[in-house]
Amino acid sequence: MAELRSVLEARLRPAFDAIAPGADPVLRPSDHADFQANGALALAKKLGRAPRDVAAEVVAAADLGGVCSAVEISGPGFVNLTLADGLLARLVAAAAGDERLGVAVASEPRRAVVDYSAPNVAKEMHVGHLRGTIIGDALCRVLGFLGHEVVRENHVGDWGTPFGMLIEHLVDVGESEAVGELSVGDLDGFYRDARAAFDASEELRERSRRRVVALQSGDAETLRLWHVLVAESVRYFDDVYTKLGVLLGPDDVVGESSYNAMLPAVVADLDALGLLVESDGARCVFPPGFVNRDGEALPLIVQKSDGGFGYAATDLAAIRDRVERIGAARMLYVVGAPQAQHFAMCFAVARLAGWLPDRVEAVHVGFGNVLGADHKMLRSRAGQSVKLVALLDEAVERAAAAIAESGRRVDASEHASVARAVGIGAVKYADLSTERTRDYVFDWDRMLAFDGRTAPYLQYAHARIRSVLRRPEAVAAGAGASPTVPAIGEPAERALALFLLGFEEAVAAVADELAPSKLATYLYDLASCFTTFYETCPIATAPAGHVRESRLLLARCTADVLALGLDLLGIEAPDRM
Ligand code: ARG
Repeated sequence: MAELRSVLEARLRPAFDAIAPGADPVLRPSDHADFQANGALALAKKLGRAPRDVAAEVVAAADLGGVCSAVEISGPGFVNLTLADGLLARLVAAAAGDERLGVAVASEPRRAVVDYSAPNVAKEMHVGHLRGTIIGDALCRVLGFLGHEVVRENHVGDWGTPFGMLIEHLVDVGESEAVGELSVGDLDGFYRDARAAFDASEELRERSRRRVVALQSGDAETLRLWHVLVAESVRYFDDVYTKLGVLLGPDDVVGESSYNAMLPAVVADLDALGLLVESDGARCVFPPGFVNRDGEALPLIVQKSDGGFGYAATDLAAIRDRVERIGAARMLYVVGAPQAQHFAMCFAVARLAGWLPDRVEAVHVGFGNVLGADHKMLRSRAGQSVKLVALLDEAVERAAAAIAESGRRVDASEHASVARAVGIGAVKYADLSTERTRDYVFDWDRMLAFDGRTAPYLQYAHARIRSVLRRPEAVAAGAGASPTVPAIGEPAERALALFLLGFEEAVAAVADELAPSKLATYLYDLASCFTTFYETCPIATAPAGHVRESRLLLARCTADVLALGLDLLGIEAPDRM
């Protein structure tokens, strides 16, 4: 569509220019035709003329030969444009013959830092981290595919006062014992025991306090023990990432602690700029425009009254690092919606301090909650937060059962990998197809259904096309791979061709609007469009020759778009299922 749009624009602009130089044709997709140009309305208003006259003048002057098969003025002065079948056919043939399926590489690649996942050391990853990980992964894949340079950063919570307690607990239970517990992923158990012991013993609280001081002053043995905790947790997070099939790996971990050395400079520089204010002993910045319910200015606390640095100081240091060292043009923070104010304030302070120049875009890519069937935050039956690995394992088990139940014949050798693709894919698609900022209900039956807006539906639609392409009569006709400009005779062929050309815009929406749901929805609509096509334009019984080859090409291109689109969302598309 992007291409269609630019072809149309190029033809319409001169006609608009002739009336008023630079006037915008205002092209939009239309329900009545393929596109409509609404520019005559604004232009007529500006010139004090009748909109329909302006529209008529544009239509008379524009050279739409070969591009449009019908042009019609409707309503107050819309210009309805129906694209020529020949143009659609040529563009689909070009997209089908291109390994990028018609999606151009960005003309201005920008370096983007994507901050996502960010679980906390010695704490279980919760479903909020799951959402951030899935959304962040899709954004990284799409930006990378569009030719942007992507720097993934996993801002793991690996520093702060709880580490005094955690290290002392590690010492108390014995190092190898603790490592055993952590390596099997019992992070919450370890944390809970540490907390309980801490609450019960003043002696332990005192030791923990001393341990924090030792940690902050760089005591070697303390750092070694801290490192054991971090390493075990990171290893565990990595198991989850592998299960999930996301791009994040150990090399992407840039924990909070990596900014420690920069924190004194953050404070000193803010002070030198005259931005620091002392408030109840803490050192704060009050960025203009942030007030609480009572209208009082809100502080961003940079250094606490005990001298410790908090979450905000680390994020300010991270902004400086990402701008100065990494040279980011764009910074995306994929973190739950409740942290919106934190990021807005950090960005505001960084702009005030000159650390975040106007040319650098910083966006909090917030997201809603995952809810249980009771529409409250998702909890396990025991009332605890749901353990992520358990959730993913359950997804795969349920997918295996759903596949067996559906009566699909999946090869024994492929059963496990298909179940994994379907189970993990179902969890991801349920998440990504929801508008990012909204909450959604985690519902196994709905996400694993083979019909409806689900990964299994799309994966099956893809596999079904692949199986059609493997049939002898399809193979004999080139299986949709022979270069041909397809015949577009039937309305369903035309509709599918037009839809396939919309892939580029759907991908662009993910990068520009940070809306993976646009691509997720597009793929579902494409699969539905294909179903209509397949029902009305049979392939096996089509006359051998150009018609059959054309339909095979459309089918093959649909399968390719589904596979690539799902891949950009981090979802696998098995060839058989
Ligand atoms: N560790 C934090 C949490 O679990 C998220 C960190 C997000 N990233 C950041 N740069 N602050 O809530």
